[in-house]
Amino acid sequence: MPDTLSTPAAPLVAPPFPWVPRWRTLLSSVALARDPIGNLNRAHANHGDTVGLHLGGIRPCYITRDPALVQHILQKNHRRYLKSDLTHGLIRYIGRGLLTNEGADWLRQRRLIQPGFHRQRLAGLTRLMQAAAAEWVQELHTRAAAGPAEVDIHEAMTRVAFRVISQATFGTSMSDAERDRLSEVLTQIQAFYVRTIRQPYLRPWLQGIGSYSRHEALSRELRELVRGYIRQRQQSGNSSTQHDDLLQMLLDARYEDTGEPMTEEQLVDEANILLLAGHETSANALSWLFYLLAEHPDAATQVREELQAAGLLSRPAAFDELARLPYAMQVIQETMRLYPPAWILDRVALEDDEFQGRPIPKGTLFSLYLYGLHRHPTLWSEPDAFRPERFAPGAQPPVPAYAYLPFGGGPRLCIGNHFALTEIQVVLLETLRQFTITPATATPVVPVPLITLRPQQGVWLRFQRLV
Ligand code: HEM
Repeated sequence: MPDTLSTPAAPLVAPPFPWVPRWRTLLSSVALARDPIGNLNRAHANHGDTVGLHLGGIRPCYITRDPALVQHILQKNHRRYLKSDLTHGLIRYIGRGLLTNEGADWLRQRRLIQPGFHRQRLAGLTRLMQAAAAEWVQELHTRAAAGPAEVDIHEAMTRVAFRVISQATFGTSMSDAERDRLSEVLTQIQAFYVRTIRQPYLRPWLQGIGSYSRHEALSRELRELVRGYIRQRQQSGNSSTQHDDLLQMLLDARYEDTGEPMTEEQLVDEANILLLAGHETSANALSWLFYLLAEHPDAATQVREELQAAGLLSRPAAFDELARLPYAMQVIQETMRLYPPAWILDRVALEDDEFQGRPIPKGTLFSLYLYGLHRHPTLWSEPDAFRPERFAPGAQPPVPAYAYLPFGGGPRLCIGNHFALTEIQVVLLETLRQFTITPATATPVVPVPLITLRPQQGVWLRFQRLV
């Protein structure tokens, strides 16, 4: 007979996270594909910071904007989580490089490649960034010679960022036509890949109309283009004294244990991954940055005043001088809070785990919703407002812990974060030194979340010469 006097035992485990009923995700799967951000925000507002739903109406997944859970997965308990097949699926098209690799193989590659991104190396690469920025500003001068020029900023920044990453990777010998083709192939592969993930029910149809084989052919073309640059460099017998780029770094790197270099296949994979990871992310960050500055001319004026105070209004800032421009950096940080180019990250539990008493069975899929984390209504004051000062040293309230992760976190932190921040600073400063920026239309810009968060096509801004 049960002892009716004793209090019932407390449950050993906390209740699982809430779920959006499957029928509801199925009904709204088209709406979710059309407006993921609006739908995810609503799901969090209705159900809390971690909510389960079926991606594409099919795939069970927890979406979280809880900083403690994000930290648990990316940092504290990272060994229990891998990227999911959403990322690994890219291997088929781009290859197995740092971004898509896992386990011991990933760690070996990361240790090998990390020194290539050290500060000293970055100083050399900054000259390439300066050259790409000068070319863009020159183009603006030509277009704005007779009056303000209207520019589609996303189109322009995509070209600037691809110039930077392709030259930083392969040096300056690539022709414009070769660079355009490389960029085109990567863009097409990415767009196709996102479609297969976002709308998995289209896969049989895409198979039927030959889309998979067409994109596999593009992927082979990409590998052959990249292989061509690698062989050219090897045959020229050149060394790091002539080339201070990322390809030379990859070619010169030797594994600690064997003293051997990477194989050609590995070189192709890693070079492909650098192009992929370092292209669209930076282009989007730059586009959002100029868009926000056009909307907030006071912030642009403050950056210009900072340049003037540092004596850098009449010439480009050198690598070592960038640290003297803290407000410019705060503007960049705030831009990536509001519009994180990597807006969502995926992880899957490799084994059973638990978080705050809730069981997480092996195989559980998580989407770490950085966009939601960066605009969390209780973690940030005025979360949707553009306020660069929140990143000032000693700002009150301080930036909440693990709630700001534009470059990810834990051991898989973006290897190119300093590279990207330097590139964005250089392009920003060169532009603001010589131009004012205003919106060219009153239409608000809608973010389009693909693999990265890009502005809807056609963000038109007006650039006017200062001198
Ligand atoms: C604003 C620009 C950039 C943003 C916002 C960004 C963001 C990120 C994020 C969030 C991750 C972690 C992904 C995860 O944990 O699942 C990552 C990884 C990575 N990024 Fe970036 N990235 C940027 C620019 C770059 C650039 C310029 C490069 C190369 C030059 C680069 C190369 C990589 C690589 C190779 C990884 C994989 C690192 C690893 O797992 O070891 N990124 N990036």
